[in-house]
Amino acid sequence: MLLINNLSARIAGYQLEIQSAVSEVLSSGWVVLGPAVELFESQFAQYVGTSHCVSVANGTDAIELALRGLGVSAGATVATVANAGMYTTTAILAIGARPFFMDVDESSACVTVAEIEAALAAGVQAVVVTHLYGRAVPQIEKIAEICKAHRIPLLEDCAQSHGARIHGRCTGAFGDAASFSFYPTKNLGALGDGGAVMTNDAQLADRLRKLRQYGWAKKYEVSHQGGRNSRLDELQAAILSVFLPDLDVTNERRRQIAARYQATIRHPDVQLFAPGEQDHVAHLFVLRCICRDSLSAHLKQHQIASDVHYPIPDHRQSVFADQFAELTLPVTERLAGQILTIPCYPEMTDGDVDRVAVGINAWKCDNSA
Ligand SMILES: Cc1ncc(COP(=O)(O)O)c(C=O)c1O
Repeated sequence: MLLINNLSARIAGYQLEIQSAVSEVLSSGWVVLGPAVELFESQFAQYVGTSHCVSVANGTDAIELALRGLGVSAGATVATVANAGMYTTTAILAIGARPFFMDVDESSACVTVAEIEAALAAGVQAVVVTHLYGRAVPQIEKIAEICKAHRIPLLEDCAQSHGARIHGRCTGAFGDAASFSFYPTKNLGALGDGGAVMTNDAQLADRLRKLRQYGWAKKYEVSHQGGRNSRLDELQAAILSVFLPDLDVTNERRRQIAARYQATIRHPDVQLFAPGEQDHVAHLFVLRCICRDSLSAHLKQHQIASDVHYPIPDHRQSVFADQFAELTLPVTERLAGQILTIPCYPEMTDGDVDRVAVGINAWKCDNSA
């Protein structure tokens, strides 16, 4: 089976470096919030181009703690898209805040200036934008400007966009803060969970360092509400420092794979999103197809895995019962019924990519005859 991701292949490619990083941590005897975490935080801050990186336990915590650090509290309303897997919404709910759902643009699956302006007009207290599938939100510069003018904090969720750049600037460097996930399958992934919040605001970074560790001002002295235990461990930090220097190279390979799909997939019932350049790090290769379940089943028969990111828009999740029954997000809902993710990861060979494209091109759509 050709999988959506192949972690074993990645681990195999770095076997010696991983072993040496792990044994260095083990022999140091320091396993939580130590020198490896500090080193990775400074390396990643430099890579993204922010003054601070505060690592945490995972990407969902990064969103939650960033929002808390930015002043979001229970009862506040936070703008977010509804097509990004519910992670931001989960973080908003964990604070006791309310999501304000925005629709997305049909050609990028990302939020637009118009949607942000509508959310601001509705009185949201914070905005989260998601750089989805590896694509930097095309209008992020304008969105950052508008949020600043309204004095509303902007958080970028970069869980799928490590290294995507607009005008040479990395995603994560546009907002007041940015959250990253280092879940193993991400473009920069650990071998377990991990996450980080990036910011240029020294006071916010200081608050985040307290929030990730019980709200401690110092050991056993709790000064901040909303604190918890959310720390990156030394082993994961050391492994991330092994992968980080190659991030631009592996992103380039992902782009080559995406370009090969763009050049070879030819089917009247399959649509591709616009290709990207440096603004796109091809975290996921997502296509559109009106009978995607049939295409997915056909690929499975040919030993090719596919998946849907994501099948249920946030406002239709059962956790909300009928709270958002009146809300319609036409593009989000249409895309949820049509999107299909096909394999895209740096270790794929050109032969693997061609096998997927040939499989897709050979499929007959049940509804189109
Ligand atoms: C867009 C997006 N945001 C947030 C997250 C949450 O990250 P984590 O799984 O590390 O909590 C993910 C990842 O899974 C994601 O894809």
